[in-house]
Amino acid sequence: MTKVVSKQLLPVYDKPLIYYSLTTLMLAGITEMLIITTPQDAHLFKALLGDGAQWGLSFSYAEQARPEGVPQALTIGRDFIGDSNVALILGDNMFFGHGLGAMLERCAQLEEGGLVFGYRVKDPQRYGVVEFAGDGRVRSIMEKPAKPRSNFAVTGLYFFDRQAPEIAAGLKPSARGETEIVDVINTNHRAGTLRVEALATGYAWLDTGTPESLIDAGQFVRAVEQRQGYKIACPERIAFQRGLITVKDLRRLAAPLAKSEYGDYLLRLADGLV
Ligand code: G1P
Repeated sequence: MTKVVSKQLLPVYDKPLIYYSLTTLMLAGITEMLIITTPQDAHLFKALLGDGAQWGLSFSYAEQARPEGVPQALTIGRDFIGDSNVALILGDNMFFGHGLGAMLERCAQLEEGGLVFGYRVKDPQRYGVVEFAGDGRVRSIMEKPAKPRSNFAVTGLYFFDRQAPEIAAGLKPSARGETEIVDVINTNHRAGTLRVEALATGYAWLDTGTPESLIDAGQFVRAVEQRQGYKIACPERIAFQRGLITVKDLRRLAAPLAKSEYGDYLLRLADGLV
């Protein structure tokens, strides 16, 4: 199958998939983001997202030439990360639920080590899986185990301290030929600095790794949005509500979209009607 364009640019119901990860970071209070894409797709992401100023954000871009593993994002981003802690989110993960922003803002305050989320799923073998010891403490995280020892998958949102790029740089590829993010997480675990937070069932964590799950995600978003007249993962709304842009900015962003439901939503937001 020819990969025409990166999946993160495909629409999930009414907006590109990448909006969902991007707004998750916004909810965590993060405004400076490094967007890592393939070299082939880089211009498309730049055309779509620009420098982020339209949403009161700052976007930088970097390229990953070959898919050599999630931890490579940390080495590619080493200078960007500098001496700060870092949040890493995969471009095809979706999070939704009441209080998500406040919870993520708390997590972003992480001072040392790593923080990951465990979420109960039916098919853990597709993911990193949390293994628990008999006393309920975390034993380790296994990448796609054939026989998972729990149903807790590790989501694609990670908070790390500034040592993460160095840990990532020292990793060897796994049997599937990629370095594994679970190896970064397990390094934190061995150092006693890993926090695994259970993401309650009240939250939705959707991934879009298969054609079916991509459709499921779109239907989920559609059902919530149609029922509530609300837009999930709307960067304009979050930017406005967080004071990153003014009502005038919001109207300017809405103007070219005015004939669409999305644009109409932004205008109603500007009028205080949603
Ligand atoms: C990656 C990680 C895995 C994690 C998953 C979440 O898997 O390696 O640990 O559970 O993302 O979406 P991949 O997308 O590389 O299959």
